[in-house]
Amino acid sequence: SDRINIAIDGPAGAGKSTVARRVASLLGYVYIDTGAMYRAVTLAAQRSGIGTSREDLLAELVSNLDITLKPGDPVQRVFLNGEDVTGLIRSREITAGVSAVAAVEPVRTSLVDKQRKLALAKGVVMDGRDIGSHVLPDAELKVFLTASVEERAKRRYKESGAEQGYTLEQLEREIAERDRMDEQRLVSPLVKAKDAVLLDSTNDTIDEVVQRILELSRGRI
Ligand code: C5P
Repeated sequence: SDRINIAIDGPAGAGKSTVARRVASLLGYVYIDTGAMYRAVTLAAQRSGIGTSREDLLAELVSNLDITLKPGDPVQRVFLNGEDVTGLIRSREITAGVSAVAAVEPVRTSLVDKQRKLALAKGVVMDGRDIGSHVLPDAELKVFLTASVEERAKRRYKESGAEQGYTLEQLEREIAERDRMDEQRLVSPLVKAKDAVLLDSTNDTIDEVVQRILELSRGRI
C-alpha cells in the first residue's frame, strides 16, 4: 500500500527522536530529526561569532550551509559542510543557544523548505516542534508526544545529562526554559496541531509509545 508521512512533535526530552527512529525503522521509512538541523545552524553561527540579533547574517549563513542527515546506529549522523558534527551539536553550549537561533525567521524559512523537500516522496517520520502544525500540514498521521517536565528531565539525566555535568535540577530548568522559548516564539511556535493525536508518555515505556504509533499508522496507510 501507499507510504504516508508521520509528524511527531512535542517538547524537549519527550522521547521523540528515539520513538521516531524506531517507528521509521519498523516501517522501513526515513527518519528525519529536524532539531539536529537547527542545532547544526547554531553550531555554524557560534563558530562564525554571529549573534541572534543579526538576522541578515544568519540568513546569509544558513543559505550557504550544506546540512546532510545520514542514517546511523544508534543515532542519525549529521554533517555540516561535509564535517561530521553529530557529537558536537549535542553540547551544552549548543543546547543552550539553539532556541534563540530557531526563533529567527530566515533560519526557519530555509530549514522548513529543506524539510518539505525531504518529505515529498513520502515514507518519512519527521520529528520536531512545528512539523504537524507547519512543515507538513498534510501529514497522514500527526502525533504530539509529551511527558511531565520532571520525567523528561529524569530521562535526559540518565541518557546524557549526568555525563555532561548537569544536575537534575539544572536539566529541569534548561528543559522548561527551552519549552517556554519554543512555545512563545512568533514564528511557528511549538503547538499541538488540531488534528494531532496527543500521547502522554509520562507513565509509558518507549516501546509502548512505538506500538501505539504503529497501530495509529495502520489505520492510515
Ligand atoms: O529536538 P531538539 O531538542 O534537538 O531541538 C532543538 C531545538 O531546535 C528546539 O528546542 C527548538 O528550539 C528547535 N526546533 C525547532 N523546530 C523544530 C525542531 C527543533 O524550532 N522543528
